[in-house]
Amino acid sequence: MKDKIAKYLAEVQNENITDNHSLEQFRLKWLSRKGIIQSLMDEFKTISDPSQKREIGQLINQLKQTAQTIFDENKSRINSSVNVDISDDLSLELNLISQGSLHPLTIVKNQIISIFSKIGFVVSDGPEIEDDWHNFTALNTPPDHPARDMQDTFYIQPDSQDITQDIHLLRTQTSSIQIRVMENNTPPIRIICPGRVYRNETISARAHCQFHQVEGLYIDENVSFADLKTTLLYFAQEMFGKDTQIRLRPSYFPFTEPSAEVDISCTICGGKGCTVCKHTGWVEILGCGMVDPKVLDNCGISSRKYTGFAFGMGIERITMLKYRINDLRVFFENDLRFLNQFNNERV
Ligand code: DAH
Repeated sequence: MKDKIAKYLAEVQNENITDNHSLEQFRLKWLSRKGIIQSLMDEFKTISDPSQKREIGQLINQLKQTAQTIFDENKSRINSSVNVDISDDLSLELNLISQGSLHPLTIVKNQIISIFSKIGFVVSDGPEIEDDWHNFTALNTPPDHPARDMQDTFYIQPDSQDITQDIHLLRTQTSSIQIRVMENNTPPIRIICPGRVYRNETISARAHCQFHQVEGLYIDENVSFADLKTTLLYFAQEMFGKDTQIRLRPSYFPFTEPSAEVDISCTICGGKGCTVCKHTGWVEILGCGMVDPKVLDNCGISSRKYTGFAFGMGIERITMLKYRINDLRVFFENDLRFLNQFNNERV
């Protein structure tokens, strides 16, 4: 019997336990009620000679303890989350659960926030269900402006004809946030307001009924158009590279005077002309202007004392230019083949 136990002792130490299945096989073979150790115990009971009994008893105990220790150590190794032991082959690939990635619109939104926060802008937000005052009237948008049309705006109470009534709608622009902030704060105000907006548009490669904007606003004494231009050049070069140029074209928005649309030199061809810039060398990225004095007064800020600039851009547009995406619908389809391409982008 001594020889048999010595043989088992060698055998138990050579067992190969790699996973939960082989761990259970080990337990059944050695430690269960029908296992080897129990059968040795049964045999042990039949020994009558006391000195032989003591000796065999000690050997069985040693075997049992060895088996139990091997079992315990392997169990905790297999079940611990990081399964690396110094004796493991560290070059083997770990079976890690694959990690999700940030959505490209979130990546670019975070980049925009980080670029503006370096020059003192702080993030503000407001509600997606807005009232007429904050989305249109306070922004100097006349009652007959086409943007108010039901074809462009999702109204919560579409039957209402009287715009003096408390009309609610899904905000069509993040400019509504500048009104809320100006109503509740005194200058200096320097904010950046990312958010989702809604418009009653037919979905296509270039338009969607919901998309994202970032509004910027800076109000203080002596803020000038030159400050606006410098700020936007800084943004364009941080976002699209140091060689990027900007150009401002006169435009119209009800809430700014003067107003401009801003183009950047085409990021694809560097200004030489290609299909993305329609051979003009320039692509539009945002609208901007000096805040109309009427808007300041609507919010209780003295237009005699303060001036300011505002700008608004579409996050989808910036993202499409940055990553050369030519169909806006991919942002909302949740196709993992598209989203996984942003796995290594970190902001
Ligand atoms: N709210 C405008 C839009 O949705 C974008 C915009 C243009 C915002 C000019 C501004 C601005 O603050 O000054 O088209």
